[in-house]
Amino acid sequence: MRSLIFAANWKMHVGPPEAREYLRAFFAAGEIPHERGVWFFPPAVSLETVAQGIAGHRNVHAGAQDIYWEAKGAFTGATSGPLAKQAGARLTLIGHSERRHVFGETDEQTGKKVTAALAADLQPVLCVGETLAQREAGDTMTVVTRQLEAALGERDGRARVAIAYEPVWAIGTGRNATPQDAAEVHRAIRRWLKGHPTTATPFVILYGGSVNLKNAAELLAEPELDGVLVGGASLDPRGWAQLVRTAVA
Ligand code: PGA
Repeated sequence: MRSLIFAANWKMHVGPPEAREYLRAFFAAGEIPHERGVWFFPPAVSLETVAQGIAGHRNVHAGAQDIYWEAKGAFTGATSGPLAKQAGARLTLIGHSERRHVFGETDEQTGKKVTAALAADLQPVLCVGETLAQREAGDTMTVVTRQLEAALGERDGRARVAIAYEPVWAIGTGRNATPQDAAEVHRAIRRWLKGHPTTATPFVILYGGSVNLKNAAELLAEPELDGVLVGGASLDPRGWAQLVRTAVA
């Protein structure tokens, strides 16, 4: 049976009491299918609550949505890798499209954050993806390769990194990439990773962007996808419990 990851990015939603309630409802749906992993990325204030709420569930992990590259110091408002780790994170998103496009995060900064995540023993989930204009100009792979190169190119050691391919035009728009388009980019990412012995195998490559209960089965039928990273459709615990149980052909 193929293993699949279902990653929930709550973005700026779900505070601690809501997170407790959410997890109660989510786990009430029953055991998570054996070969499936569930990753929750709550806002930083809810990280510890989520880490406590998932304790004892073997395949469920919590992660930060972002970290700063310094480990500690006078950086008001920022969360470091070691602080996220203390709160119970096992993973961290890096370079999510909203970090890049709303907060102006640069490729260079994503590289520093990958280094900081690995130093804090957090698994980085590097998010890459092109804008609509870049796709229409035929630049998808140039952009994605540049993002991979900047964040991972210089890495030494066998870094355990997951990648989330999230075309910017598909995030929160209700317009998902076709399984074929997503698979094509995943194949190219896999080729790039294979050519960079600095990253460890096996690679986990998730697709994200308007994944929901209606399109998850079709997307996941594509063997190139190792799972999905989901925003909007992960906010309802019952819907998410159903999505995690999507039957895949
Ligand atoms: P969406 O968000 O599922 O709401 O499109 C995905 C993401 O930003 O990770």
